Amino acid sequence: MTSDGAYADVRPSAPAGTMTLPARYYCDPAVFEREGERIHRAMWNAACPVDDLREPGDYRLVEIAGDCLVVVRGEDGRIRAHHNVCRHRGTRMVEAESGCLPGSIQCPYHAWTYGLDGQLRRAPHMDRVEGFSVEDYPLASAACDEWGGIVFVRVADEGPGLLEQLGPAAPRLEPWGIGDLRSAHTERYDLKANWKLVVQNFSECLHCPVIHPQLQRLSHYLSGENYPVTPGAVGSAMDMADGVETMSTDGRLVGEMLPGLPEAGRRRVGYDILLPNVMLCLHPDYVVRYLMRPLAVDRTTIRCDWLFSEEAVSRHGFDPGRAVVFWHTTNLQDWRVSELAQQGIASSAYRPGPYSNREDQLWQIDQLILERLGEA
Ligand code: FES
Ligand SMILES: [Fe+2]
Repeated sequence: MTSDGAYADVRPSAPAGTMTLPARYYCDPAVFEREGERIHRAMWNAACPVDDLREPGDYRLVEIAGDCLVVVRGEDGRIRAHHNVCRHRGTRMVEAESGCLPGSIQCPYHAWTYGLDGQLRRAPHMDRVEGFSVEDYPLASAACDEWGGIVFVRVADEGPGLLEQLGPAAPRLEPWGIGDLRSAHTERYDLKANWKLVVQNFSECLHCPVIHPQLQRLSHYLSGENYPVTPGAVGSAMDMADGVETMSTDGRLVGEMLPGLPEAGRRRVGYDILLPNVMLCLHPDYVVRYLMRPLAVDRTTIRCDWLFSEEAVSRHGFDPGRAVVFWHTTNLQDWRVSELAQQGIASSAYRPGPYSNREDQLWQIDQLILERLGEA
C-alpha cells in the first residue's frame, strides 16, 4: 500500500512493451499437442484428490495429454498410476470413470489379469507359448506421488521430483495444512476455453471491479502482491477489507479459523497456481481447490472442491453455503470471460494486445510456457 492508503496501479518491476501471445497458442491443435508432450506429460500433473482413493481397489481414470491412466490404491495402500492399455493386444481395459476394482484389473477382451500393482498375474492360453513369462508384461506405469491431499502423476519417465517442481510454493502453503482438509462441496465445470486462459484469468484482478462486484466489496482489486514466479508455481495474495473475515457472501467466517496460520494469512486471501493444473484460493477458514483438465485446445474441465477442517465438516448442521455460493458465482463470472476471450482470440481479427503493468505475472506465465515449448 502507498503512504496515502491507496493501492498502486503500477508495478515498477513490470517489463515495458509486453504483449499477449499469438492466437495459435490458444487455437492451434498442434500447439496443444506440443504442450501435452512438453508440459502436461513432462510435469507432475494433479490427477485427483487422495480422498477419492480411500480403500484398496478405489480407482479413477485420468486423461493426460491423450493417455488414459488408471490411478488406483493397491492392496499395500500405495497409490499407483497404470496406463489403461493391455499388454496382450493393447485394449483399453477399465471403462467406468471411477469405482473400486476387485483386487485386480482384468482385460475385457481375452481376460489377461493384472494385480493392482500392475504385475501380470494370469494370461490364458499363453502357457504353451515358448519363452513367454508373465513377469515380462507388467502394465506400463507413470510416476505417482502425493502432496497436499492431491495425487500427482508424471507421465514422462524422467524429470525432477514433485517437491522440486513445487519449489517455494510447498513451504508457503504449509500453514493451511490442505492435506488435512475435507471437501464439503464439489462442483464440476466444462469450459469452452484453452486452459491457459483460465490460468491467466486467475492471475490478475484488474477484471474484478468489472465482473466480480461481490468480490471487489471484500478485497480491493489492486491489493494483490505477486510472489516471485518459479517454473512450477505462481501466486499472489490480496488484502481483505477492514472488518472482512473471509471471502463469503456476507464476509463472515464459514468454517473454523485454520490453526497455525501466520497473522498475514488471517488478513489476506492467497491465490496460488501449481502449474500446470492446480489453482488454490486460500482463506483463513477454508481453501477452494481447482483441478483442471485440458481436453482440447479450446476445452477444459475443472473440478472445484471447497475444503474445510475435519472439525468443521463433521460439525452437526455445518453449512458451507456462504462460501460455495460466493465462489460458484465468481467462477461462473470467470468462466464466462475466459470463454469470451477464447472466442475473440479465435477470430481472424485478433492480434496480440499490450499487457498493462499490473499484468506482469501473465506475461511471466507466457514466458514459462514458451520456455517449456522451446520457443522462448
Ligand atoms: S487384448 Fe487384453 S487380453 Fe487380449
Ligand atoms: Fe476473476
